[in-house]
Amino acid sequence: MAAIAALLSSLLIFLASPLGNALSWNYYDKTCPDVESIVTNAVKQAVMADKTVPAALLRMHFHDCFIRGCDASVLLNSVNKNTAEKDGPPNASLHAFYVIDNAKKAVEAMCPGVVSCADILALAARDAVVLAGGPTWEVPKGRKDGRISRATETRQLPSPAFNISQLKQSFSQRGLSLDDLVALSGGHTLGFSHCSSFQSRIHNFNATHDIDPTMHPSFAASLRSVCPKKNNVKNAGANMDPSPTTFDNTYYKLILQGRSLFSSDQALLTFPKTKNLVSKFATSKETFLEAFVNSVIKMSSITGGQEIRKDCRVVN
Ligand code: HEM
Ligand SMILES: *[C@@H]1O[C@H](CO)[C@@H](O)[C@H](O)[C@H]1NC(C)=O
Ligand SMILES: *[C@@H]1O[C@H](CO)[C@@H](O)[C@H](O)[C@H]1NC(C)=O
Ligand SMILES: *[C@@H]1O[C@H](CO)[C@@H](O)[C@H](O)[C@H]1NC(C)=O
Repeated sequence: MAAIAALLSSLLIFLASPLGNALSWNYYDKTCPDVESIVTNAVKQAVMADKTVPAALLRMHFHDCFIRGCDASVLLNSVNKNTAEKDGPPNASLHAFYVIDNAKKAVEAMCPGVVSCADILALAARDAVVLAGGPTWEVPKGRKDGRISRATETRQLPSPAFNISQLKQSFSQRGLSLDDLVALSGGHTLGFSHCSSFQSRIHNFNATHDIDPTMHPSFAASLRSVCPKKNNVKNAGANMDPSPTTFDNTYYKLILQGRSLFSSDQALLTFPKTKNLVSKFATSKETFLEAFVNSVIKMSSITGGQEIRKDCRVVN
């Protein structure tokens, strides 16, 4: 009986939350025509004060979309009995949540109860890329906010230790292709990584190699100097590339030189198809930017929520 009741109620939940809210470019034209400029202003203000904000917002959007769809689940705070995504394991470099709060406050002042936090985050990620010197794109809108955020579900995120088949699977489960994988990994042109994300490549790699042999030796040596074996230095780590606040194609050039931080970056060379794309993007920044735009719209169109949150940190 209980099992049947549970089945029925999950069926009801399923029916009540359409898989995929229809997105459109002009979703808020009538209800909140200035939403885009309001969000852009909030992101601009934050970036002027802190150049690490674009990386944070882009990664936040990626994490949001990879867990329960782009439903702002990443923005929810933990409550009494529930530890939220943002307090789960790969939380160390999730930051700049205040930027979304500021944008939401400004949007609510203009058009209360209309714009989802998931849409605000998608817009903010686009603005972040533009402000870092990257390409722009039209963001399809109409996402809804979810009511569930669980720290345990951050396990569903791809790990930096993943090989190419694991990456392929993680992306294809979300309707994203190998082309999308290579283009979206280019997000690693921005930002910073803590030692823990690449530590296993530079110490005790395996029984025969102390250092991952796919890593350039002098690059490995420089990483080892900031991330020693017994690493107790809080917040130690390395920039994703030498221009961590500029959105460009340097990331792909570095992969070809064995100078990328994660196994998951270097793994893009292990399938001929993905390796060809890495080479193409390393040669042509324009080709990369075009592919990135195409793929980021795909990623940000994975929907999943059902309400318009009033406060991005708490369910209604
Ligand atoms: C392909 C699978 C991916 C893996 C395994 C991965 C893994 C990681 C890891 C381990 C970090 C560093 C966390 C830390 O130690 O602080 C990181 C940072 C970052 N990732 Fe990814 N990531 C992936 C895909 C993406 C995608 C698709 C995007 C966006 C399009 C993205 C954007 C970023 C950014 C911007 C940072 C820097 C964050 C900051 O400096 O605040 N990543 N990623
Ligand atoms: C991040 O996650 C770790 C591991 O789950 C946890 O111990 C830590 O408290 C979290 N940190 C923050 C700031 O939420
Ligand atoms: C990737 O890792 C998985 C799990 O460890 C393994 O089964 C698979 O053979 C690996 N694939 C490649 C291409 O290395
Ligand atoms: C260590 O890794 C290298 C490079 O991936 C590989 O060639 C070698 O067989 C590995 N050794 C062991 C013992 O797994």
